[in-house]
Amino acid sequence: MTADSSASDPVFPVPERLLNGKPTPFVSSFEEYKKLWEESVQDPTSFFGKLGRETLTWSKPFETVMSGSLLEGDVAWFLEGELNACYNCVDRHALAQPNKVAIIHEGDEPGNVRKITYSELLREVCRLANVFTSLDVRKGDTVAIYMPMVPETVMAMLACARIGAVHSVVFAGFSSDSLRDRINDCGARLVLTADEGRRGGKNIATKRIVDEALKGSPSVDHVLVLRRTGSEVPWADGRDLWWHDEIEKTRPYCPPTNVNAEDPLFLLYTSGSTGTPKGVMHTTAGYLLGAALTLKYIFDYHENDVYACMADVGWITGHTYLLYGPLMNGATTVVFESTPTYPTPSRFWDLIQTHKVTQFYTAPTAIRALRRLGDKWLEGYDLSTLRVIGSVGEPINPEAWHWYNEKVGRNVCAVVDTYWQTETGSIVVSPLPGAISTKPGSATFPFFGIKPAVLDPQSGKELEGNDVTGVLAISQPWPSMARTVYKNHNRYLDTYLKPYKGYYFTGDGATRDKDGYIWIRGRVDDVINVSGHRLSTAEIESALILHPAVAEAAVVGGNDELTGQCIHAYCTLKPNVEDSEGLEKELSLQVRKVIGPFATPKRIYVVPDLPKTRSGKIMRRILRKIVNNEQDQLGDTSTLAEPA
Ligand code: PRX
Repeated sequence: MTADSSASDPVFPVPERLLNGKPTPFVSSFEEYKKLWEESVQDPTSFFGKLGRETLTWSKPFETVMSGSLLEGDVAWFLEGELNACYNCVDRHALAQPNKVAIIHEGDEPGNVRKITYSELLREVCRLANVFTSLDVRKGDTVAIYMPMVPETVMAMLACARIGAVHSVVFAGFSSDSLRDRINDCGARLVLTADEGRRGGKNIATKRIVDEALKGSPSVDHVLVLRRTGSEVPWADGRDLWWHDEIEKTRPYCPPTNVNAEDPLFLLYTSGSTGTPKGVMHTTAGYLLGAALTLKYIFDYHENDVYACMADVGWITGHTYLLYGPLMNGATTVVFESTPTYPTPSRFWDLIQTHKVTQFYTAPTAIRALRRLGDKWLEGYDLSTLRVIGSVGEPINPEAWHWYNEKVGRNVCAVVDTYWQTETGSIVVSPLPGAISTKPGSATFPFFGIKPAVLDPQSGKELEGNDVTGVLAISQPWPSMARTVYKNHNRYLDTYLKPYKGYYFTGDGATRDKDGYIWIRGRVDDVINVSGHRLSTAEIESALILHPAVAEAAVVGGNDELTGQCIHAYCTLKPNVEDSEGLEKELSLQVRKVIGPFATPKRIYVVPDLPKTRSGKIMRRILRKIVNNEQDQLGDTSTLAEPA
């Protein structure tokens, strides 16, 4: 591994501002990084044992740092230890610095700002935890959260953690069908929601979507409803309760329930190669350690910084880098309710200027969209507080990287292209701001404890050395890795640990270039990444064939300048059904209804037939080439039943 480069890719050294400015970065040379990284992978027990003791507050100390293996799929960290996640994120900071702002809520309308200190956060979380207990939610029970981007959503997650309940947040852009399936899979008895959401000047019918979902969710006893907009909403007496009414009844302290290090902290559903989403399970101590360390080192977080992650809390980025990572470090974190373009495309820059943001984290799709709208929207904004700007969710193309670096980072910030997944819990490959020179488009080097391996996809053999391309795997356990798929450990083993024995398989292709830099090449399975939202082709196909006119559907990812990838759907119709005007629109609505608006196909083609092998398997590879204008590279079509 080396960081010197004579490569053709331009290399951007660590900005002077980080090296010579204040505060000094935690890791300030490549050699220092390399030494720490080597320690972390050669002796993870002592490396993470020490950090586990220093970073987390335990009610009962652990004795064993790590046990189990990737081969057996039984990894566990800090085995005998007991702790409470909410205590670690809130109480200890509320005791040390009660008046420090924990959350800045930037509401949908500019100027609509709410600041919540650590001591206020503690009281609010305790009240809510007491409400949950009064509704008979106990340690180990699952609570479903379908809420807008308001501080109460963060409070709800922390209140679950406080009593040892498991939260399962469902992104509020999912449809009622998707919500129902997720509630039913985890058997939640309590659902949290709001009367309506508010985003980009529009009201979103959050409670109505919950009502619709609950028609098919028999496990739910109660719905706790936050009043966000005050609009009239339908009400089921006995089942539905107003948040503010219940809160009023409870006292503002609730003792934290200590749980075992390996007790679950949350479930988060994500798409894989096959149809139904998986409930990825993260446990308490290892996850918190990963969140805390990556936030500190990858964003070079220092006291008094104001950290702003633009992700929705319904995705893993919101869990780890809006909530757990920042609060573990006692930081001030921003909860942003609006969109990058409301009321104008200056919204992010206005937010950074107003709150003096020091670390800013967003997705390539937002960067590309803002770049396209022109530089005038940045003019006149003071972005000088920024030190580190991050990107996540999909490969960032060099044009977008340069624009982000020049216009937002003003060539003086560290740009961190962070690679990770719902399943990894926290960032696994990324530059460290003060230590690693960057190459636009490369996530660069592994974080502490991560031993990446590039494997030959066919033989599974590890491709040693540099200048190799294959599939990306990780060859040793790390603290924040997902431990299982809820109620389906075999699926966990089959998806991540069995494809290449002894390795965790990411599902992504990757290159390690001649300087040792890692470049993520995108998914090698049937997962499509649209604006950083992960969808499985099978999930969209299942949605389409629910339509009475559709016989068969094949979905593939196309390239898209703005969203990275986009959805192209091919459908054949049932006999006696004619293609009609409006059918494509209907099919598009069908996908929105079953999954959610973010899964809307860009193009739907009603076709007489689909390319199939003689054994009847749809050859998506061919369709993929067609949508990406690569017809000249169709490859071997000899196995097609009807090549024509
Ligand atoms: O393909 C990779 C892509 O997003 C996938 C993970 O999606 P999800 O679990 O929804 O988590 C997204 C946020 C962590 C990965 O398998 N991906 C994520 N970050 C990057 C990326 N691809 C390239 N570069 C990245 N920085």
